[in-house]
Amino acid sequence: MSRLQLSEAVRERVRAAERVVVFSGAGVSRESGLDTFRGAGGLWERMRPEELATPEAFRADPGKVWRWYAWRYQQAAEAAPNPAHAAIARLETLFPFVMVVTQNVDGLHQRAGSQSLLELHGTITRAVCERCGSGRDMGEAIAESSERPPLCSCGGRLRPAVVWFGEVLPHETLVLAYEEATFCDLFISVGTSAVVYPAAGLIELAHQAGACLIEVNPEPTPFSHVMDLRLADPAGEALPALVDAIERSRWPPTT
Ligand code: OAD
Repeated sequence: MSRLQLSEAVRERVRAAERVVVFSGAGVSRESGLDTFRGAGGLWERMRPEELATPEAFRADPGKVWRWYAWRYQQAAEAAPNPAHAAIARLETLFPFVMVVTQNVDGLHQRAGSQSLLELHGTITRAVCERCGSGRDMGEAIAESSERPPLCSCGGRLRPAVVWFGEVLPHETLVLAYEEATFCDLFISVGTSAVVYPAAGLIELAHQAGACLIEVNPEPTPFSHVMDLRLADPAGEALPALVDAIERSRWPPTT
């Protein structure tokens, strides 16, 4: 993507911004080789979420669900952060407060260097005991048993530390995310279809609170019409260009 020129209005709001939220979804990891869920080639086109990503599915066939998450863990472990993750991490050098609120479970934002992160849907890098709640490294748990979930020392069964459909999001994480969306000046939504709630409600909150809204997604979403700026390019191209433009608009710094 060539040099991105922000409109005067967006440039002014970016220049004045102090609090930034980056709201990310599966599309941000697409250029790292990981599948999205929806759209052409998405996971939910060839697999059924109710057979793989619900508590009922795990009860009915724990081995099947465990193997699917072991496969996804392996893919994420072998993937590397792409320029979109790196650009998001770079935002922390440009603003006093940046919070990445992700629906992704792949751990790539951390590996790219993002320090302030809320994982709304948990993480695939950890396993957790269904009974006592104690956690373990997912890679170790898979190494112990790749075909079915291993047992915890308490006798309970391990599961991936992700949020499944029909489960509530971690309360504290969600409250913090709501706060960040309500009080941010700049909200960047990237690589999400914005159809899964309550996560997608963060865009509504930021909009109601009057934040400057930017969307990065090759496809339109239900919120595209409220955006101040929409970049319809892949995140790995659009985000480095956007962060460069943001950096230029914040220079020289205000005293
Ligand atoms: P989706 O798969 O629903 O949406 C991915 C979005 O990324 C789509 O809007 C694509 O157009 C866009 N996209 C694809 N390639 C892109 C690229 N290179 N750059 C930027 N955008 C790109 O993924 P999420 O919105 O993250 O939940 O899905 C939300 C939740 O639904 C997930 O966390 C997961 C899923 O079912 C659970 O498993 C609970």
